[in-house]
Amino acid sequence: MGPSWYLATPYQWGEVDEVSIEKLAIDGGTPVRTTPLPSVGNKSGRDIGQEELANLTEVINTGTLFRYGGKFVDQLENEFSAMLGMKHGISSTSGTSALHIAIAAIGPNPGDEIITAPITDMGTLIGILAQNAIPVFADLDPKTYTIMPESVEALITEKTKAIIPVHLFGQTADMDPILAIGKKYGIKVIEDCCQAYFSEYKGRLSGTMGDINAFSMQQSKHMTTGDGGITVTNDDALNTRAKLFMDKGWPREPGVPREYLFLGMNYRMNELTGAVAVAQMRKVQSVVERRRKVADAMTKLISTAPGVNLPYVRENCKHSWWLYPITIDPAVLKCTSAEFAQALSKEGIPASVGYIGKPIFTTEIFQKQRVYGYGCPFTCQHTTPREYKESDTPNTLKILADIMPLSINEYFTQKDIEDYGTAINKVARAYQR
Ligand SMILES: Cc1ncc(COP(=O)(O)O)c(C=O)c1O
Repeated sequence: MGPSWYLATPYQWGEVDEVSIEKLAIDGGTPVRTTPLPSVGNKSGRDIGQEELANLTEVINTGTLFRYGGKFVDQLENEFSAMLGMKHGISSTSGTSALHIAIAAIGPNPGDEIITAPITDMGTLIGILAQNAIPVFADLDPKTYTIMPESVEALITEKTKAIIPVHLFGQTADMDPILAIGKKYGIKVIEDCCQAYFSEYKGRLSGTMGDINAFSMQQSKHMTTGDGGITVTNDDALNTRAKLFMDKGWPREPGVPREYLFLGMNYRMNELTGAVAVAQMRKVQSVVERRRKVADAMTKLISTAPGVNLPYVRENCKHSWWLYPITIDPAVLKCTSAEFAQALSKEGIPASVGYIGKPIFTTEIFQKQRVYGYGCPFTCQHTTPREYKESDTPNTLKILADIMPLSINEYFTQKDIEDYGTAINKVARAYQR
């Protein structure tokens, strides 16, 4: 490593003046910041307060915590779907269950294939495997980190039942060609919107383009109940099956003897969660808007850093900034991505490379092909044998080796944002060739 200098200067937004130089914190210099991010808001960085408390108090006072007989879970389903301009909402216990509900509503047979992304949370795959279907992984676009339509189409077989584009970090997948593939082959599309509330693709909102689409309300998501999920659809038949699957296959029709129409789960959201979800739902658009402002300001400041590639946002689309992914240019900087991330972390801006370390199909579930006893569904008579190889998704490998998804929060102050700009400029200049 060469000498670590940087230009430690007060600057105007978007500018870094060359006045003084300072050693990188990783080499013993003074870090840009020593306090955790964000500087304001509650410790969790989530907007949770009086509105949630008032709704919770109301639930407790009624004594009904079960969704049937309560009001908040119904209200969430009706108002969340209406907010997106969708007909139906089906609430549940997590993003994983929201996706499982969508998959089960579509109803793959054992051995049917569902094409999705190799960089995602396991929650995208759990519902596929639980239904004895087979995940198939398309490669990712190097700029947006979302599935490439041409890679999806190359994987279509007579067993393909659905495509699940994952709107990674808050950027939508390239939906027009994906929807066209779905139409061409008669395959349903399920949007994984767990990281993407109110993202926009050419004027359409995330969660409004696929046949049935799923959101997560896990702690870190744009709206949160700690854990929770919601599935949305315009399709009446999918809605009926989804609602049944969420509640043990139980139609609950008044006056009709109790019955279970098919194997479902108990993924019911309770009223306590619903109460928080309704309050969060009222804030989610403002959270996304505030993150957009923070991201724009960060981009302005980071754009002066040599060799740092800013997040790419597809034309006519709006990111919702669940994370803020950057990469570095090795032609300009003489450090590795890991060294850059380490130096940045020492400056007080937590950073690491990769998001998930390896493509999700490198986990034992896929490599040893074990889900249920005897190796089902991979060894099932209905399944086409398949090997999951890293070499099949070269872009994904490169993305995971390069990417630094930085945290971003609606509570970031101007000072927090300036610290990002200062620290990234400082590290980049120190490593400039
Ligand atoms: C892209 C994606 N899909 C699915 C999930 C699963 O959501 P949950 O953790 O709420 O089950 C997550 C959550 O991290 C996610 O980020």
